[in-house]
Amino acid sequence: MTPAKPRSLLAGTLALATLAPALSPTLSAAPVELSVHADQAKEISPDLFGLFFEDINWGADGGLYGELVQNRSFEYSAYSNPKWNNFTSWELVERGGAKGGWSLDGAVPLHENNPHALVLHTKEVGDGVGLMNPGYDGIPVTKGKQYDFSVFARLTYMGPRWGGEPFHNGEPMPMEVRIESQDGKVLAKETFEVQGDEWQKVETTLTARQTDPKARLVLLAKGQGGVALDMISLFPEDTFKGRQNGLRKDLAQTLANMQPKFIRFPGGCVAHGHNLDNMYRWKDTIGPIETRKSQFNLWGYQQSLGLGYFEYFQFCEDIGAEPLPVVPAGVTCQNAGHTKGAGQRGIPMDEMDAYVQEVLDLIEYANGPADSEWGSRRAEAGHPEPFNLKYLGVGNEDHITDVFGERFKMITDAVREQYPDITVIGTVGPFHSGPDFEDGWELARKMDLEMVDEHYYVPPEWLLDNLDRYDSYDRNGPHVYLGEYAAHEPDRANTLRSALAEAAYLTGIERNGDLVELASYAPLLGREGHTQWRPDMIYFTGTDILHTPNYYVQKLFSVNAGDTYLPSDLSAEDSALAVSVVEDSQSGDVIVKIVNPSDAAEELTLDPAQFGSFRSQAQQWVLTGEPKAVNTWEQPDTLKPEKSTVKVSGGVSLAAPANSLTVLRLKKR
Ligand code: AHR
Repeated sequence: MTPAKPRSLLAGTLALATLAPALSPTLSAAPVELSVHADQAKEISPDLFGLFFEDINWGADGGLYGELVQNRSFEYSAYSNPKWNNFTSWELVERGGAKGGWSLDGAVPLHENNPHALVLHTKEVGDGVGLMNPGYDGIPVTKGKQYDFSVFARLTYMGPRWGGEPFHNGEPMPMEVRIESQDGKVLAKETFEVQGDEWQKVETTLTARQTDPKARLVLLAKGQGGVALDMISLFPEDTFKGRQNGLRKDLAQTLANMQPKFIRFPGGCVAHGHNLDNMYRWKDTIGPIETRKSQFNLWGYQQSLGLGYFEYFQFCEDIGAEPLPVVPAGVTCQNAGHTKGAGQRGIPMDEMDAYVQEVLDLIEYANGPADSEWGSRRAEAGHPEPFNLKYLGVGNEDHITDVFGERFKMITDAVREQYPDITVIGTVGPFHSGPDFEDGWELARKMDLEMVDEHYYVPPEWLLDNLDRYDSYDRNGPHVYLGEYAAHEPDRANTLRSALAEAAYLTGIERNGDLVELASYAPLLGREGHTQWRPDMIYFTGTDILHTPNYYVQKLFSVNAGDTYLPSDLSAEDSALAVSVVEDSQSGDVIVKIVNPSDAAEELTLDPAQFGSFRSQAQQWVLTGEPKAVNTWEQPDTLKPEKSTVKVSGGVSLAAPANSLTVLRLKKR
């Protein structure tokens, strides 16, 4: 490992006078003194640490989105996954001597964006002909908790398909909905009737009698005839903040606990899509969920878009994060799998005016008055107040071509003209250097953009070798959003070593927080068994969450962010420590972050009295362990920050163990 180089030792520093004795008897080297230059303080971005959310690794459907039923609208297709079709995740059940069948129905769609429904018919009623859905690897239910079931249903006269006789006599169809264990035990049950041949929404609440991490939903028709069904949905009533069509509470809370200052969404590659018809178009993701246009997710599955723009904005507001949507720059992904060889495609120029208007409409949807055309759509969804959008990403890792440039300029010029307060964030390719990076930066400078979005997934060594990357960036040019980054081990494991490389790098990001305004690790979420990309920050199953050391690093930096950077120096040129000191002007707290990415322990001394008046006790977190260590489902707490209180009056001596991150939070007196 290449040790992180300390910055040069300056004369005239506020060195320590009195110190506690060294903590580690095995240390032979003299303690390293940390001197803080409070007189050289500079403002840094108050929004520095945020999250990047993308529907990858089943991050949305089967993840953050609270829906428990998979393929609720029968829109799965082989286009999304060669093994899939409209019936995927559903099983026909015939209970107690019942006989019947099912078919796909496109004749009377619930909505043009939701073209397929399922028809269920009974020949022999028995104990019911029905459908069974196992959710996403099982439906987790908890004893005593309530689950909101809903379905769109109508009686149907499709009988001739099954033998020439209409099977529907116009009588209401008695139905039963159950949550069952895998061995058929009924954990919750309710009944309802379907009447008439117009679509109607039926809703009921189920209360689980027993906890089961892998239950299933069963819907039974218990009368003679046929019934068409669509949008068969089950949500825990207990979503994050109790929102309708809401988010899975434990996952959302985990993200909220990180206190992110912003959330970028909906991607990544998902944002620009593979083909022109696969771009993420925000208007398809708002309004009643049965009207949303479920579509192919380029990560190899289907996206329901139940978690859409309204829900993203709402979540940001709920957790105090700035929303940072990314819209396609009018071009598709240049690496399109479904259009192999086709490369980047641009929206035809004669459609670009309409597309530019679509982007402007998004800003109106977020910020416009409740009686404006798009603001009224937000109000209809229950949010008359604006969402106060400040940032807009245009493009994601696009190949910087003339096709891109022309469209990017049209969009950006229009936004700047109509909404000068919105910060447009440009894109500079998928790597830290190379042609798209260079061309993207050149375009950004030419257009005098406020910010560009840099991405790089690199070995831990690269991060450690480039701690000073932004020190020399031109402060008069566009600023930087480090929108996607992660240290990748050769085996893609979330090792402590990778997390500490990221931590060391973040000390450099804080130092350059006047230029780098935003930063987000990627990807955020990965459902075990369904990852297309590793490493991720957080892994989860239907019931549990696994925190990686990379997550702990992100959280420690985020909850201990500041808005003022206090330059500092280390007394030893050969120290491997990477250090940053920030102040949070609201609380007056000063936070010292010390990363030791090397295999040799060091000791650091510091006298807080030199740069402020603090309480005698400070909070300290230490994340340390074996560099190759990882957290596993069997041993999830192998790597976890230890929190303690330390005495800091009269100077402090801190152990910086080998392979560690230490965060010291000094509380203002
Ligand atoms: O974070 C995963 C992917 O990496 C994103 O979708 C894309 O922007 C990048 O290539």
